[in-house]
Amino acid sequence: MWKGRFQQQTAALLQSYSQSISFDWRLWRHDIEGSIAHSAALEKAGLLSPQERQAIVDGLQAIGAEIEGGHFQFRAELEDIHMNIESELTRRIGDAGAKLHTARSRNDQVATDIRLYLRAECDSLDALLRDLQAALVELGERYSGVVIPGYTHLQRAQPVFFAHHLLAYVEMLQRDRDRLADCRKRINVLPLGSGAIAGSTILLDRQLVADLLGFPSLTRNSMDAVSDRDFAVELLSGLALVAMHLSRLSEDVILWASSEFHFVTLSDAFTTGSSLMPQKKNPDVAELTRGKTGRVYGNLVSLLTLMKGLPMTYNRDMQEDKEAIFDSVDTVKAALGVFAPMLREATVDEVRCAEAVADANLLATDLADYLVNHGVPFRKAHEVIGRAVARCGVLECSLRELSLAEYQALSPVFGADVHEMLDVSRSMESRQAVGAPSPANVAAELGRWKVLLG
Ligand code: ARG
Repeated sequence: MWKGRFQQQTAALLQSYSQSISFDWRLWRHDIEGSIAHSAALEKAGLLSPQERQAIVDGLQAIGAEIEGGHFQFRAELEDIHMNIESELTRRIGDAGAKLHTARSRNDQVATDIRLYLRAECDSLDALLRDLQAALVELGERYSGVVIPGYTHLQRAQPVFFAHHLLAYVEMLQRDRDRLADCRKRINVLPLGSGAIAGSTILLDRQLVADLLGFPSLTRNSMDAVSDRDFAVELLSGLALVAMHLSRLSEDVILWASSEFHFVTLSDAFTTGSSLMPQKKNPDVAELTRGKTGRVYGNLVSLLTLMKGLPMTYNRDMQEDKEAIFDSVDTVKAALGVFAPMLREATVDEVRCAEAVADANLLATDLADYLVNHGVPFRKAHEVIGRAVARCGVLECSLRELSLAEYQALSPVFGADVHEMLDVSRSMESRQAVGAPSPANVAAELGRWKVLLG
């Protein structure tokens, strides 16, 4: 394609080193879509006859059908998806095909293709995130009465509804969706018409192209348009956060599925056995998801590093953006896709949860609040209950078994109703502030999400 200037063939070694067709072939649909829109602008500018334009559109659609059917022969010597499609088009339809690249460069072409690709992926990702939110809400509803210990430092802290714990992830995933939707706005801008760097001496109707491709706006600076990939960095950063959230959920699932916790049982269909130990049932989905988070982070850092030293404008380095972008999108989509059905088949061991939540220490803070309600300053109350817990250690009993006399020896404020404070249902009922897990609040949140996701 640059044979005019060169006397020597490209070395075979360079061909294989520089080719991107082995991975950018996946952009074929967007490349064809962009070329069809570009041909409309060329026709409007009088550079293509209606017949030539029709031949281009028909030719591109035929090539698209072949690629889709798996019959198209990609050629590494043609470097990338753009040249593979264009040269095959020209082989088939002749001169009209050779006119297609007028007032266009692969620099604005590839920027357009990636934006079209990422815009579509934002929508798929949003649907998958929403489905995972729905699966979390369904699981919470199925076990809406179950209370488990909430943890800080992985030490038992205070009781929470299992559904409240799941709804925390629903909130995280909503922010992930919001971030992707926001990033999508900056992806959704048309760079085509920027040429290699400085537009073209041929005046094309960029607005027409934008309308045909569904872009609500045009890039305003041709150099910026061909040289930045900040929109892709944003998306990979949004995906890194999705992966972080999935990884933390994975960690919870792994703990919950362990014999030590045994709050949750995963179905056979979403666990694996051991080749050696017959009793094993491993939470591989969650472990793989936690593990894959590393490459999603890595891809973000790769892309940031790739871009940081590039002088304006396009540099071939930027071809290296694609594998990072594709890998993060594929990895996060696969994780979301398997997590939702895994949760839909999970069951909760209500007996084990009840045993765990029977730990009276989970209500130590409730006892401090009891003293506060009787006028004791919180710091003082905290100390008194701390002594009560220590006393339980000495007597080898629980806060429920500590006698009224023992309590009153620690503080005369304790009344005969102190043991009533050590009731989980009462404790849950009294957590009524916005965002706190009272039964009514959690039920309302489950209902709110059902409407929002429904
Ligand atoms: N395959 C290239 C890429 O992905 C397309 C743009 C090539 N442009 C160029 N001037 N060599 O970046």
